[in-house]
Amino acid sequence: MAIRPVLRMGDARLLQAAEPVSDFSNLRELLTDMRDTMKALNGAGLAAPQIGIGLRVVIFGVQPQAQDRPEPRYPDADSVPETVLINPFITPLGDEMVDAWEGCLSVPGLRGLVPRHSAIRYQGYDEYGALIDRTVSGFHARVVQHECDHLDGILYPMRIRDMRNFGFKEVLFPDSPMQDE
Ligand code: NI
Repeated sequence: MAIRPVLRMGDARLLQAAEPVSDFSNLRELLTDMRDTMKALNGAGLAAPQIGIGLRVVIFGVQPQAQDRPEPRYPDADSVPETVLINPFITPLGDEMVDAWEGCLSVPGLRGLVPRHSAIRYQGYDEYGALIDRTVSGFHARVVQHECDHLDGILYPMRIRDMRNFGFKEVLFPDSPMQDE
């Protein structure tokens, strides 16, 4: 178990395309480190390249508002099931895009308004090699698109359409209970 340093924007490793996982027998340490790191930083998701591992592995999950976490990062977010998603493939459903504010553990302290497909189907594998096939919308769909972008070397600021909607979280949302990252 280890909390790993999260690479920050500017590190060339975040801009590389990650490789598909072919050996599912060797993922335990990576997934433990990813979970520990995500939880320690109170993130909604984490992609393996963010801790310097160039594999197509993401984790995400947001639990319903818990009493013992008075400063959730996304206080208005729907709950998203704790998921390990390997070698993901996303199919947008329809043309509708929605804008919402995003943050990223690799872009600490900042928020940007990012368009995402409002509904998607995503497929991939869990850590045991079992197929995952879900149709989702809203915040769940947004989290999946954000995390899977990391596997193609895309950080959310690259998707902001109007850079006036990009700034420091504490300036944009001075009264928000959202945590810094
Ligand atoms: Ni991110």
